[in-house]
Amino acid sequence: MAGSKGREFGRLITLEGGEGAGKSTQARRLAASLKAKGLEVVMTREPGGSPGAEDVRKLLVEGEPGRWSALAETLLLFAARVDHVERMIGPALRAGSWVICDRFTDSTYAYQGAARGLARETIRRIEAVSLGDFKPHLTLILDLPPQEGLARAALRDTTASRFEQFDLAFHDTLRQAFLELARRAPERCAVIDAVGSEDEVAHRIWTAVAARLKVG
Ligand SMILES: Nc1ncnc2c1ncn2[C@@H]1O[C@H](COP(=O)(O)OP(=O)(O)OP(=O)(O)O)[C@@H](O)[C@H]1O
Ligand SMILES: [Mg+2]
Repeated sequence: MAGSKGREFGRLITLEGGEGAGKSTQARRLAASLKAKGLEVVMTREPGGSPGAEDVRKLLVEGEPGRWSALAETLLLFAARVDHVERMIGPALRAGSWVICDRFTDSTYAYQGAARGLARETIRRIEAVSLGDFKPHLTLILDLPPQEGLARAALRDTTASRFEQFDLAFHDTLRQAFLELARRAPERCAVIDAVGSEDEVAHRIWTAVAARLKVG
């Protein structure tokens, strides 16, 4: 994808999956591998990633689990996402950087859609108005049994986040939702088996990135 001045645009890679699947760990590993290939890399995360979106994040992560309806939560997430794309991700891609984002739109389909029950079509319409046809070039879906992800997250955290307080059935619904998203968009999504050591998972991710985005 050449830019208007002949400069190469960057690529947006998103990491998705349940709690404790290893998204943040693998985002750092992937950034290091891409940098070693001489690429400019920007790491970011959602909700948040730009100053305005970080302000919206506070509204989402603080307070009672039932604070927002699924629709209100989705609109807040997309308000943050629009700001993130306009102010941070878009400019970085146009400058030629590769952007690695820890969670993106697929998490909204999984959490607010499949798990909280907002209709997929409602989210699709909000996405279309918010982002047009802007999509990640590659989405890595880290797949792990929820028990294992929650155990990893529990070892890491002393206080559970708001979403970690939901029960195991909720997390299994999320897992199935991410797998379904991958089935619906196989050209964009790669399902990565997240069981095993950090090194093993990093190797699987690098194989997928190298094959699909022609680096390596
Ligand atoms: N392959 C692995 N095997 C064992 N532990 C791991 C592995 N990958 C990451 N961890 C550890 O598990 C915990 C969760 O990993 P990480 O924070 O990367 O997950 P995450 O998907 O970003 O979680 P969250 O959804 O809560 O943000 C961390 O303590 C991390 O060091
Ligand atoms: Mg994380």
